[in-house]
Formats: sequence, structure tokens, C-alpha cells
Amino acid sequence: MTWGLQNRLSRIIRPTDGHTVMLAADHGYFLGPTHKLEIPRKTMEPLLPYADAVMVTRGVVRTSIDPGANVPIVLRVSGGASVLNEDLSNEKITTSMKEAVRLNASAVALSIFVGAAHEHDSLVNLGKLVDEGEDAGLPVLAVTAVGKELEKRDARYLGLACRIASEFGAHFVKTYYCDDFSKVVESCPVPLVVAGGPKLDTELDALELAYDAIQDGAKGVDMGRNIWQSTNPVGMIRGIRAVVHERATPKEALEVVKGAKPKK
Ligand code: 5RP
Repeated sequence: MTWGLQNRLSRIIRPTDGHTVMLAADHGYFLGPTHKLEIPRKTMEPLLPYADAVMVTRGVVRTSIDPGANVPIVLRVSGGASVLNEDLSNEKITTSMKEAVRLNASAVALSIFVGAAHEHDSLVNLGKLVDEGEDAGLPVLAVTAVGKELEKRDARYLGLACRIASEFGAHFVKTYYCDDFSKVVESCPVPLVVAGGPKLDTELDALELAYDAIQDGAKGVDMGRNIWQSTNPVGMIRGIRAVVHERATPKEALEVVKGAKPKK
């Protein structure tokens, strides 16, 4: 890794403890105005002080994040299929590395769709993006996307997808938490962060997911809906921080959530 690439990665995964709380807010790139993310600036602004990085598209960067907000950007650069399409795997690189540099992104992110109709294209996208990232000094985050097939989230599938992502040169990988997650971690030689997935029933459930993932070796979370679809988003991100950075138990973190007053 070049110095610039390492430096950018260390803006996301904090060198002090090797962990990160990334705020995912890129959902609009295929879901449009997702519930509670209809006005991205309104959703994100109160959360940015607690995020180690934010994962967004260039459209959201330009319109909804103050350039003075000193939050590292993980720029979503793949897309091309909307939720109206049965097959979500037909993605291309939609934002250039030059644009990522212009936006001062700290990393670029794309989805890979292992086992899906456009597996091949998505993996070739990853290989090319890693080449460009190495040239420019930008780390690449590969997202092991499952499209609408949420049942794919098991250790066998995710272990395969994460390992392939690392073999293609991804500098870090975002995946889902699952039973036997430690096996996914063991067989992937680059850092893993976990998505939250669809909103869980309770705040405690989401805190437990983050806690279990960290216990099993994840370097952090890249969480969206379970934070900003909560009735207390600031409380939730603070609770997640307590789990990820302070090794709080889910119950201790729930007290942190409750301690932060929800905005009326
Ligand atoms: C979509 C993504 C999202 O950023 C990801 O799903 C994380 O958000 P959530 O915690 O809401 O699942 O990468 O492909």
C-alpha cells in the first residue's frame, strides 16, 4: 500500500483502536427516497459528528454535505439498476476515480454480486477499480451485495464473496453479519465491516448485531437504516460508537442510546 492509500484508510479505520463507525447513506442510488432518508442533509447532519466516515453517492456529497464538515467520504461509485428491476446485479462504475479525487474522497465503494446474473461484470469492475485506486492512492471498499436475496446471508456464501473480494484486491470489505461470522473473518485477509441490513425490531437487536460482529473480528460497522430509521438516530449512533470503540455491552450501549434525547 502506498503512503497516500494507507493515510486515507486510516482516516476511516481509526488507528487508535483499529475500528470504525461508518454511516451508510447511499441507499438512494437504487432505492430512491428511502424512508427517513428522503432529505439526506436533514437525516445526516445531526449524525455526522459521531460518524468516522460516511458512505454516500456524489449526488449526496454535492447537495447534502457541507464541504466544511470534516467527515471522511467513502464514495459509492457503482450503480445502474433500480429497485424496480428484478435483477439488481447489473452495475457498472458510474463515477470516475478523477471525480473521487476531486471530491477528496477517502475511499471508493462498489458492490459485487457473487453468484448473481452479473457476477462477472461486477468482479471485473472491482479489479479495474482496484487498479485505479492503487494509481490514485484511494482504498477500495467492496460490498458483498445480495440484491433482493436476503436469504443468501450465511457464512458459506458471505465467506466466499468476501474472500473473492479480497483476492481481487479490495482494501476492505463490507458484508452482512451471520451465524459463524468468525469463519467469514478468518478466511478474509482484509478488514471487514458489517452492514446493519433492514431495520431490526428493537434498538437492542441492532446493538447486539454490532457487538457480536466486533466480538467475531469485524473492524466496525457501515450501518444505515438501523441508525437513521430509529426514533432516536443520534442516540443510536452514539450507542453503536460505544459498542465499537468503547467495547460497551449491548445493554450498556442501550443506556447510552436512552441518554441521548430524541429530537422532536
Ligand atoms: C447497499 C449498501 C448500503 O450502504 C448498506 O446496505 C448499508 O446500510 P444498511 O445498514 O441500511 O443495510 O451498501 O448496497
